[in-house]
Amino acid sequence: SFAIEIASSGQTIQVAPEQSAIAALHAAGFDVPLSCEQGICGTCLTRVLDGEPDHRDMFLTEAERAANDRFTPCCSRGKGRLLLDL
Ligand code: FES
Repeated sequence: SFAIEIASSGQTIQVAPEQSAIAALHAAGFDVPLSCEQGICGTCLTRVLDGEPDHRDMFLTEAERAANDRFTPCCSRGKGRLLLDL
């Protein structure tokens, strides 16, 4: 599992191994838009302020992945804690 921290509130959300990051966000009341659920469309793209995403999408380019400032929570995860701009 890994943890998501919400920048605006300081709230920490645990993401279980079998749970997607966006499912954990939705369960906590954050209305992040979702479409393909497969890392293809970029609809769920969310800004990352700190931490390293474990990118599993096919939407971002290699350079965009390396910047580690956005991730697709429908399929991507975090290596440790991710601070999100929410
Ligand atoms: Fe399509 Fe996440 S919903 S990339």
